[in-house]
Amino acid sequence: MSSMKLSVIGTGYLGATHAASMAELGFEVLGVDVDKVKVDSLSRGQLPFHEPGLPELLKKHVDSGRLRFTTSFDEAGSFADIHFIAVGTPQRAGEHGADMTYVDASVAGIARAATRDTLIVGKSTVPVGSARRLKDLARDGAGVGIEIDLAWNPEFLREGFAVEDTLRPDRLVVGTDSDSAVAKLREVYAYALGRDTPFISTDYETAELVKVAANAFLATKISFINAFAEVTETVGGDIRVLADAIGLDKRIGRRFLNAGVGFGGGCLPKDIRALQARVSEIGLDSTMRFLNEVDEVNLRRRDRVVHIVHELCPELDGKSVAVLGTAFKPNSDDVRDSPALDVAGRLFNEGAEVRVYDPQANSNAAKRFPRLNYCQSLEEAVEGADVILLLTEWDEFVQMRPETLAPLVAHRQIVDGRNVLRTEQWEAAGWIVRALGRRA
Ligand code: UDX
Repeated sequence: MSSMKLSVIGTGYLGATHAASMAELGFEVLGVDVDKVKVDSLSRGQLPFHEPGLPELLKKHVDSGRLRFTTSFDEAGSFADIHFIAVGTPQRAGEHGADMTYVDASVAGIARAATRDTLIVGKSTVPVGSARRLKDLARDGAGVGIEIDLAWNPEFLREGFAVEDTLRPDRLVVGTDSDSAVAKLREVYAYALGRDTPFISTDYETAELVKVAANAFLATKISFINAFAEVTETVGGDIRVLADAIGLDKRIGRRFLNAGVGFGGGCLPKDIRALQARVSEIGLDSTMRFLNEVDEVNLRRRDRVVHIVHELCPELDGKSVAVLGTAFKPNSDDVRDSPALDVAGRLFNEGAEVRVYDPQANSNAAKRFPRLNYCQSLEEAVEGADVILLLTEWDEFVQMRPETLAPLVAHRQIVDGRNVLRTEQWEAAGWIVRALGRRA
């Protein structure tokens, strides 16, 4: 077992998962965050967000002493041989580009605090060109006689599968100009490499671009099927069958072809905008213009749900709308750029009484949109509803039965915003069902 010690700067989804997963692989790990409340919570073994499997891993390694947390860069600088940067790169306020403040501050902070030769490994999603700049920033900021290497090692984890994706990734990508950095990262990831995980060693720019290219492709795939959903809504047809049929072509594949209310979350929307902004900055204004369309098709899906609600309830004022799901996807409590919460908020602003239920995301949703009526159960949310909107496909909603809900609602009307209900069953039970990608 390697005796290298690791630090992870930033303890959000990415950082907390990486830190706990590295401890699981046997490393001594120090998690660093500027947020003392988060550090205190993690130090007690308590995860401040929902992620299946991670609480157990966190507790196990906090208890074993292999995983600790601190707010001190100095402590990290003297403790670790490798520092992973896992802080956020949010969309800049009022603009499309990524905000690099936290990444820059973390790299500079660690370079300053390092007490011996050090490898800094960026995991955050950054605009192409950042790694080269950060290498200079780190070298300029390091103490006399201290050598700093830098590598970019993008992370592809999905919320809801974060631990699995970290321990069993599809591939590992490392961009660097240092052979010793590659050797060290091969040692860190020996477990995955032992399972024949492809290891792609490349330059900084390729590594940075791999991450945004993957997310741009996924977003495009979703908007592609959603654009066809607009067509089938107009001419007739069933988007699910269409997706199944094209998905059987191995070159296309069925995954990420689920039509519905569209993509959200902390990555896909922000990454396609940041990519366009960056590519324009380097003078390629039209190169990524199609991503504008990807974004627009995606946002139009939300308009479509609002439009269907208007069709079902022409006088929206005072009508009761039950919104099932506020998380941007199931098995997550994340409401960042959530299509479901956006639709709920718009219907509220248009005068509807909006009753919301999500198995995990109610409290995060309430922080963003406090004026909705948050309910403790599915039954409570649909009580007296004029229309139900299924907007996040939690199992609990997929398995709802029309005859159980019928006595609770005022009108039997449901909008399937994720194409997961068996429409025939609901229609047979006397419901009006509207699904995205199928004509009324
Ligand atoms: C994504 C990438 O998948 C991951 O590799 C990257 O590291 C971070 O961004 P995540 O944001 O966790 O992960 O969610 P993902 O599972 O990709 O779903 C993104 C959004 O697309 C969700 O809102 C989801 O509901 C939506 N989606 C997904 C669809 O609308 N249709 C689909 O077929 C698939």
